[in-house]
Amino acid sequence: MTEQRLVVLISGRGSNLRAIYQAVADGRLPARIVAVIANHDKAAGLTWCQEHGLPTAIVPHRNFPDRESFDRVLAAEIDRHRPDWIILAGFLRQLSNGFVERYLGRLVNIHPSLLPAFPGLHTHARALAAGVRWHGATVHFVTPELDAGPIISQGILPVLAEDNAEALAARVLALEHRLYPQALGYLLDGSCVLDNGRTLWRRGYSSPEWLGINPERLI
Ligand code: GRF
Repeated sequence: MTEQRLVVLISGRGSNLRAIYQAVADGRLPARIVAVIANHDKAAGLTWCQEHGLPTAIVPHRNFPDRESFDRVLAAEIDRHRPDWIILAGFLRQLSNGFVERYLGRLVNIHPSLLPAFPGLHTHARALAAGVRWHGATVHFVTPELDAGPIISQGILPVLAEDNAEALAARVLALEHRLYPQALGYLLDGSCVLDNGRTLWRRGYSSPEWLGINPERLI
């Protein structure tokens, strides 16, 4: 498989970026991270990138009067790196419709809940307040509506009686670090594509009819 070019967008600590980087380094993903772009210079993940020799760029959203002008400059920066895939990894800016359409089918995100439950922020506290017994994370194609794009993969774990939002968030994050590289693998090898507003699984891709989950393995 030919090496594919990834641009990763971050706003914060970049732990999912690190998980993707590790998957690339281990040979689990036939890819190269060609740039990491942040929307402000305080994103902690940038320091880690510099320490690991990953090219970084900053497009500070505060310098732009509106979303569209920010997105135009962000797109120009992304295009400079000729990516096959644009990966949102804790990128905390809502993107304009024009931006999303430009990269439709090549733009993916990870969200810390089992979508369509709990789109938006504070997902772990909301899951606890709702009393759900299962929670998790979702990798999805990005479409104009926030956190509503076609789902690629989900990881699930039990909510424990003693959970608080921090403990639950930590377990979900560890799950994300396994889920995101795996989901990117499906995209990179063409196992699934965005087709007419749905995730289409390639013929011949076999998914198990049921999945036995041992919660102990997920915690
Ligand atoms: C993750 O929980 C991700 O699901 C959400 O933002 C968080 C980013 O964390 N979109 P990190 O910066 O990857 O550590």
